[in-house]
Amino acid sequence: MNTIYITGGRPLTGTLAVQGSKNAVLPILAATAAIPGRFVLTNCPAIRDVTVTRSLMEGLGIQSRESAGLITVDSQGPLQSVPDPGLAGLLRSSVLLLGALLARLGEAEIPLPGGCVLGDRPLDLHLKALKGLGVRICLAGDRLLCKGRPEGGIAILPYPSVGATENLILAALGATGPVRIIGAAREPEIRDLADFLTACGARITGAGTPCVRVEPAPLHGAAHRILPDRIEAATWLCAVAATGGTLTLTELDPAQLQPVLTLLGLAGCEIRESAAGLTLHAAALQAPGTVVTGPYPAFPTDAQAILMAALLRASGATLFRETVFSDRFRHVPALCALGADIRTAGDLALVRGVGALHAAEISATDLRGGAAMVIGALAAEGTSVIRDAWHLDRGYGKFAERLRALGADVMTE
Ligand code: UD1
Repeated sequence: MNTIYITGGRPLTGTLAVQGSKNAVLPILAATAAIPGRFVLTNCPAIRDVTVTRSLMEGLGIQSRESAGLITVDSQGPLQSVPDPGLAGLLRSSVLLLGALLARLGEAEIPLPGGCVLGDRPLDLHLKALKGLGVRICLAGDRLLCKGRPEGGIAILPYPSVGATENLILAALGATGPVRIIGAAREPEIRDLADFLTACGARITGAGTPCVRVEPAPLHGAAHRILPDRIEAATWLCAVAATGGTLTLTELDPAQLQPVLTLLGLAGCEIRESAAGLTLHAAALQAPGTVVTGPYPAFPTDAQAILMAALLRASGATLFRETVFSDRFRHVPALCALGADIRTAGDLALVRGVGALHAAEISATDLRGGAAMVIGALAAEGTSVIRDAWHLDRGYGKFAERLRALGADVMTE
């Protein structure tokens, strides 16, 4: 998709099955580089980040096929230790190949993802913890040269970085002794990675808690079903909250969405769990107070822009505090172009509800920011144009088709 045209003002209603999780499938695909074997992954989302990851893996010598949500992977052949820099630069998660290749080959040469070790999304936590386990790492131009299998020991993360936790778990698969990760991230996607690796023979305890232990074990191929995407689910719920209507989501774990559900409930939405799934019935919205993002189980940073877009017309003011990323209000100017009243200062954004939104021509800045703009446009009067819509293809499968199934007036080119 390059451009999305949305004529807003229609309530959205219907039932959707949530897709498999982007942030679970990407580390699991990277993990197949650590283990020679054949793998069957089901419930995989049909998204661009998966396609790019599969191309990246193919360049390393790992074959895969995709059909209707099922990906088969064969990583039994000899592997290259140097991922393609062009493809790796497209994906932050390409850095997980560092842990996976170290585990399997004892060496890796990783292009910096987007060349940003010291920038907004640094890798210092990954590198310091791996060095502490005896891995030799040096920077050569825009590549990280890494050598040596990790030794057993303790890796301490002063902040629960999702990627650093995943990289350490992957590297620890090839360690010479047990590795304990203290201060690990607790996101559900980390538990899913550990469940996949356990099916592959790994001995991992504590995934989903701040202390994870990985013991050396023989590894082999396995089958695994990817967990549902809690951020995709949050996107559909926020879209319906913004436009009015009733949505039932199936194939999700509501417990993993609790912080989002709590705020939508405080905003006045009626939310019910039943055997049929999770149903949200939208009502006139009121501002739910303060929203503070943080590592799981706090409110997810990936849902910040999306919830903000849902609350643009809520009565009262909502204060957002973004504590995870330093530059995550890039969607705000586009939401203001739609008529929103938002002021930002540092890590704060104050949203004052407005009576109505109007159409605008705007450009997606990133994946979740783009989704927020779509939600804003769905709630606005008139036809909005959203350019650079390819950002949405990174994380949402059949996005426009699914919106149309709920009754949205959406066209793409
Ligand atoms: C993952 C998710 C992303 C989500 C984020 C936080 C994937 C593919 N991506 O990204 O969607 O928004 O978790 O939930 O799963 N940091 C450092 N040094 C490091 C590593 C991280 O300072 O070495 C900082 C980052 O700059 C950021 C914060 O820690 O400010 C969180 O980053 P992290 O948890 O590592 O996120 P990612 O794994 O990149």
